[in-house]
Amino acid sequence: MTSPLVAVLMGSQSDAPLMQECLDLLSKLGIPHESHVMSAHRTPDKVREFASSARERGIEVIIAAAGGAAALPGAVKAYTPLPVIGVPVPSSELKGIDALYAMAQMPPGTPVATVAVGSWGARNAALLAAEILALKHEDVRKAYEDYRRSLAAG
Ligand code: RP5
Repeated sequence: MTSPLVAVLMGSQSDAPLMQECLDLLSKLGIPHESHVMSAHRTPDKVREFASSARERGIEVIIAAAGGAAALPGAVKAYTPLPVIGVPVPSSELKGIDALYAMAQMPPGTPVATVAVGSWGARNAALLAAEILALKHEDVRKAYEDYRRSLAAG
């Protein structure tokens, strides 16, 4: 079994249907991944333990999805040098605008690569992770280029 290169985190189980699109795309590209539910506000110790040990466990990119105040990607970033991609989830009354601002407006020193709100973002997060991994992993580069070619053909 290949060790996961990407960790997909979500702030709540309710984010799972949206993030399934991200997981499906990672699978389609043959990228080994894992997923976990954890909350920056409700399970902060779990977030700290996960993020501070992720790199040593072989994770190379972290994708973190959350809605509302959406502290998860920033909290993860506080504990890891790994690239963190944030997916704003449209789960609150503000429909993800709140999460988008929270993730995109990270202060200098703790960047979160923020993608679009919702489904587009969930899919682009997987592709952005693939692009980062493709710099080092030849099999991912090939799969990603095949995927891009398939878009052009459609
Ligand atoms: C859910 O609450 C959201 O979609 C989100 O991911 C989560 C955020 O939870 P906390 O981190 O604020 O606990 O409704």
